[in-house]
Amino acid sequence: MKNLYIKTYGCQMNEYDSSKIAALLSSSHGFLCINTPEKADLIILNTCSIREKAEEKLFSDLGRLRKLKIKNPFLVIGVGGCVAVQEKENIMKRAPCVDIIFGPETTHHLPQIYNDIIKNKSKIIDTSSAISAIEKFDHFPKPHSEGPIAYVSIMEGCNRFCSYCIVPYTRGREISRPVDDIIEEIKILASQNVIEINLLGQNVNDYLAKDRDGKIINLAFLVKIIAKIDGILRIRFTTSHPSAFSDELINVFATELKLATQIHLPVQSGSNNILAAMRRGYTREEYINKIEKLRQIRPDISVSSDFIVGFPNETDADFDETMSLIDEVKFDKSFSFIYSPRPFTSAAKLEDNISLSVKKARLKQLQDRLNFYALLISNKMVTTIQKVIVMNQSERNPKRLIARTENNKLVNFVGDEKLIGKLVHVNITKALPNSLIGVLIE
Ligand code: 5AD
Ligand code: SF4
Repeated sequence: MKNLYIKTYGCQMNEYDSSKIAALLSSSHGFLCINTPEKADLIILNTCSIREKAEEKLFSDLGRLRKLKIKNPFLVIGVGGCVAVQEKENIMKRAPCVDIIFGPETTHHLPQIYNDIIKNKSKIIDTSSAISAIEKFDHFPKPHSEGPIAYVSIMEGCNRFCSYCIVPYTRGREISRPVDDIIEEIKILASQNVIEINLLGQNVNDYLAKDRDGKIINLAFLVKIIAKIDGILRIRFTTSHPSAFSDELINVFATELKLATQIHLPVQSGSNNILAAMRRGYTREEYINKIEKLRQIRPDISVSSDFIVGFPNETDADFDETMSLIDEVKFDKSFSFIYSPRPFTSAAKLEDNISLSVKKARLKQLQDRLNFYALLISNKMVTTIQKVIVMNQSERNPKRLIARTENNKLVNFVGDEKLIGKLVHVNITKALPNSLIGVLIE
């Protein structure tokens, strides 16, 4: 049996692609996934280029893997994901130990590419699909989930072209998967005892596809269809774009109680000047208005976001607007980043004129405030009863279980392993910075 080591950088889309690559190579060549690269016959690095740091990480990892290749000349190294599309053959020039370059659209070519490499001992670059970015889904083996929570990709690419973002250039134009394929995948997962579905895409609010009767289905409708599938108890979707977050979708939170009381809605900045320069297509006021509408329907909905600090020309006043937005919305646990100019993007033409020390200071201030509100929300959950999905035993103490709340927080409580995979009720007794402690309600 051959060993496969996959390292995934970046987003949930990449995690999803990596799980499919593992399933594909296991069914084509019997590859067994291992957790360290030393004994691997094939190493796949599934990369992310959203920020420069992620890209640098790839090259430092390749520097280390080069030594393994010297020890084992039969080792095959593949680089996939967004950096592969962005840099193509430059990766092999900088890191000659790499044998395969493939993109998010061509993951399904890997079994054939691997055969060709073994036979011909030459290098292969294959980053774009001749047919369509969603062709790959037809080649993946039947979905298989080990746990009660599963991810299902519903679309590829993005057409929004936010001025800072490389995704539309690396993952290509938006394309939605056919409704019936998605439903079929979820039914299979439900038959494997999956109870929570996370719909994935760079911009899921733009989902639009026909069903087999030719009816056009958007995300709001898709959620309603999924909610009817037996066994599925909880649904989430990510990532959302505020501009495309329609009233129709907001209203689904009123009618579909399986939709989690949680939403990840990246705002990026609280300043209208910066939002315009980022080409986000909404104002601070419009963003707040959407949150208010959601809160009228679900008063305790947890809202998380992504933020970028230090975008070109961001003044102290712009940054203060972001801080005041945080105070106004009271976001739950969120992600925040220092602006990083990316190739091909329109913002890369602007002078990156905020010093690193100012960027770092703003990031720290912002993260402290975000952490403050995330903990406040956790503290408010103490003494409440939460519906949680039990995922696994705690690694540190097998008598304790780890579960996920509706607002996506981890809860640790004493319970029997038979509860793994079930939806149970727990009383929250304590809030910690990154998790909650609870007591099972029998
Ligand atoms: N610099 C910093 N952060 C970025 N993001 C996307 N592009 C950049 C960039 N050039 C962040 C955004 C996005 C998240 C996935 O990554 O906040 O929502
Ligand atoms: Fe990037 Fe904007 Fe598309 Fe999100 S919506 S993937 S930030 S271009």
